Amino acid sequence: MLKGKIAVITGAARGIGRAIALQLAEYGAKVVVNYRSNRTQVDELLQTIIDAGGEAIAIQADISKDEEAKALIDTTVEKCGRIDILVNNAGITKDNLLMRMSEADFIDVVNTNLKGTFLCMKYASSPMLRQRAGKIINISSVVGIYGNIGQANYAASKAGVIGLTKTVAKELASRGITVNAVAPGFIETDMTNKLSDKIKEACISQIPLKRFGTAKEVANTVCFLASDAASYITGQVIQVDGGMVI
Ligand code: NAI
Repeated sequence: MLKGKIAVITGAARGIGRAIALQLAEYGAKVVVNYRSNRTQVDELLQTIIDAGGEAIAIQADISKDEEAKALIDTTVEKCGRIDILVNNAGITKDNLLMRMSEADFIDVVNTNLKGTFLCMKYASSPMLRQRAGKIINISSVVGIYGNIGQANYAASKAGVIGLTKTVAKELASRGITVNAVAPGFIETDMTNKLSDKIKEACISQIPLKRFGTAKEVANTVCFLASDAASYITGQVIQVDGGMVI
């Protein structure tokens, strides 16, 4: 389905990014696994992909920094010749109630989740414009659509990702580039493992499908948007949330 395509996934060492990298590779894409610091996890992921007959390389970069985001894209083009798919997955949380949220925690979350997505899209758009083709998929969150207590910074960053997605979709559409967002609900990863059992139970009670989603279920949607099956879809936000918000 994606044979010969070059796909960059940010923050792909673990969790949802890892599942996306595995699945894109399974569908035939050569994956560029971006990570910030955890080389051991990345080596294990590369080995898993290669053992399964796929192709993968790793590039270290902190995507919240302009020069590192640029280097990630430049190195990808240098090593792989082009870039067909960009998945902006890297993200962090630093939760607190508004009154207790520090300026530093607000800025850190916005810099990673929103500015990082902006920077990677900005730099990846150059080779994609030259190619007159490309698929950009941004990982937002249902929290960016509906808000969530204790996550003012995170919700603002993920709402920003939706605004970016729709705007860049309009800017790049005439050159054959699609830009979409996936908004997961509660997904089983290290990010949600931090929640107490009480909060997890409260969350599950609000989900019609009565369980958290899996990283693979998010990856399925990303792979669809990255494929030609989604060629007439752009500027959309697809919720993968078990019906949490209907
Ligand atoms: P995770 O914490 O397991 O993985 C996030 C990855 O991003 C980590 O590998 C981390 O090192 C990397 N990262 C963070 N800052 C980075 C930076 N500046 N440069 C490069 N890499 C960086 O989280 P998870 O759950 O896999 O989340 C992935 C994405 O999905 C995030 O954008 C998150 O906001 C989003 N999401 C997750 C949900 C969930 O329930 N787990 C729900 C909705 C959205």
